[in-house]
Amino acid sequence: MTNLFESLFKDRKSPVIFTLFTLLICVMTLFVANTSTFTTSDPISFYPDDIKVQLPLEHDALPVLPDSKDQQEHRAPPVLPDSKDQQEPPKDHQELPHEGLLHWEKAFDNNVSVDLNMNWKLCKGAVMVDYMPCLDNLKAIKALKSRRHMEHRERHCPKSVPRCLLPLPKGYKVKVAWPKSRDMIWYDNVPHPKLVEYKKEQNWVVKTGEYLVFPGGGTQFKEGVNHYINFIEKTLPAIQWGKNIRVVLDAGCGVASFGGYLLDKNVITMSFAPKDEHEAQIQFALERGIPATLSVIGTQKLTFPDNGFDLIHCARCRVHWDADGGKPLYELNRILRPGGYFAWSATPVYRNDERDQKVWNAMVTVTTNMCWTVVAKTFDSSGIGLVIYQKPTSSSCYEKRKKNNPPICKNNERNQISWYTRLSSCLIPLPMDDAARWPVSWPNRLTSIPPSLSSEVDAGNKFDKDSKHWSRIVTDIYMEAPINWSTVRNVMDMNAGYGGFAAALIDRPVWVMNVVPIDMPDTLTVIFDRGLIGTYHDWCESLSTYPRTYDLIHSSFLFKNLDKRCDIVDVVVEIDRILRPDGYLLVQDSMEGIRKLGSILNTLHWSVTSYQNQFLVGRKSFWRPKP
Ligand SMILES: C[S@@+](CC[C@H](N)C(=O)[O-])C[C@H]1O[C@@H](n2cnc3c(N)ncnc32)[C@H](O)[C@@H]1O
Repeated sequence: MTNLFESLFKDRKSPVIFTLFTLLICVMTLFVANTSTFTTSDPISFYPDDIKVQLPLEHDALPVLPDSKDQQEHRAPPVLPDSKDQQEPPKDHQELPHEGLLHWEKAFDNNVSVDLNMNWKLCKGAVMVDYMPCLDNLKAIKALKSRRHMEHRERHCPKSVPRCLLPLPKGYKVKVAWPKSRDMIWYDNVPHPKLVEYKKEQNWVVKTGEYLVFPGGGTQFKEGVNHYINFIEKTLPAIQWGKNIRVVLDAGCGVASFGGYLLDKNVITMSFAPKDEHEAQIQFALERGIPATLSVIGTQKLTFPDNGFDLIHCARCRVHWDADGGKPLYELNRILRPGGYFAWSATPVYRNDERDQKVWNAMVTVTTNMCWTVVAKTFDSSGIGLVIYQKPTSSSCYEKRKKNNPPICKNNERNQISWYTRLSSCLIPLPMDDAARWPVSWPNRLTSIPPSLSSEVDAGNKFDKDSKHWSRIVTDIYMEAPINWSTVRNVMDMNAGYGGFAAALIDRPVWVMNVVPIDMPDTLTVIFDRGLIGTYHDWCESLSTYPRTYDLIHSSFLFKNLDKRCDIVDVVVEIDRILRPDGYLLVQDSMEGIRKLGSILNTLHWSVTSYQNQFLVGRKSFWRPKP
């Protein structure tokens, strides 16, 4: 075949065939250039290889602002603070003149390409203000046969989610800006007073005028959270916060002050807890601008990858780690990096009563069976105790065990993505190759080839190319987009690939939840290897987060694919739920995807601009349908 073509080209023996062949090549090239379809067959094709983005060099290119009267009218003014002693009023609710150089155009409102007959309604009922479809499915929860393993705190998604828009809490305001928000948030935005009373002694949260204030207290942080963080590092100097330990999981995090203060040490923490009697704890955390998610140690695996976290922390997190023969601990073992640590501060570590001692003995049995070693055990000046375990770095200890208990997982269990997967009763074998290597210290870790990628062919090249791609998109396009980046703190990347978008934002005061959709190549370990955080998710379902928790949601070539599995209107309803009013949706997609999305957003009274029919910025307004 090759020879035939060569001879045709060289000798031009057959001019008709040659011409036809050349024409075919031209048509195919044109076809490929005009479609930006994302294929999942190549595991690293997160975006089309041939994106052609025109970057203007002339400084006089005037941006077209979303300033039509029509849009101004739709934007209900946010409620602003009115007393003088309040912090600077958030000014970002006004349309900001866009100083950028790119020609972003007001998009689609006169040219609706999709036949939309939307008649938006407000969701009915007071509880809808904080509605989370997969966590508030009361019918499914009532029908549960057992709640012993926290089944009622797990996800139970309804078959169909009502297509209505959530009402805003009364008096809702643009949120307090970071970094002030770590210490104080508007009470009206999250009007839940129970923890103020319930955890009064422990200083979790205090109500002061119109604010909820977070003094950095916690169940185990008797001398404040900073003291506690330093105490852990003093106990085990190898921890080296922010150099050696970068990615932490805080199980049962309360209001997430531990993760919030670790940020000062360049540590990024995924804080999680269920929706339970600790009212609105995760909602507080996110309103504070601290990375957090709703999750629970129950019957299912956590939605994180194998070997991801450098350190897992639990301070009196009420998880029965030794339950069911130790399954919850096997789960920690799965998501902990080889050589990673589990820091546990709870009464069985330092109290001698019978109940605590029973738990301690059970912990000794399970952790020994898993080949964990105790690397430190100590007490601090306030009397609380801490034990730090370390996961082994190789499987050799597993082989030396007298009893194969817990057993090593079989192949089929190893390759499962942890999405609605039951907790397992086996141990994932440790990686043998370079993937077992501890990443280089932060911040070099972000840009070095991730250990889990290094065995792939041409890994360095692919990784470099991806990093350069994102650095260019973020600097040249996203920073020039009609987005007031100074108001952005909580960011979600809906289709994160290697985490390149998050990496390109690293010098900004934002944090990114990197989502790897369950139908995309599994790159979540790479993301964690780089020192970033993320989770698996299926975007045809609702996310386990409270309404209004993200300031900016980014999506790169996700919608085209998603369209095949679920209705994009429902995905937009979910985006509207989790994005705060005045927040941004930033999308790169096919022209068709962008047009459809823009049309839907227009019906929601968002301001929509687009760039080169490839990028879209939608800004959510305060508009809600009349009740
Ligand atoms: C006593 S509070 C401790 C909070 C925080 N660690 C501190 O030290 O201030 C217990 C925490 O554990 C969480 N929790 C209870 N059961 C849990 C479970 N099965 N999985 C994850 N978190 C759980 C609660 O929601 C709450 O956040």
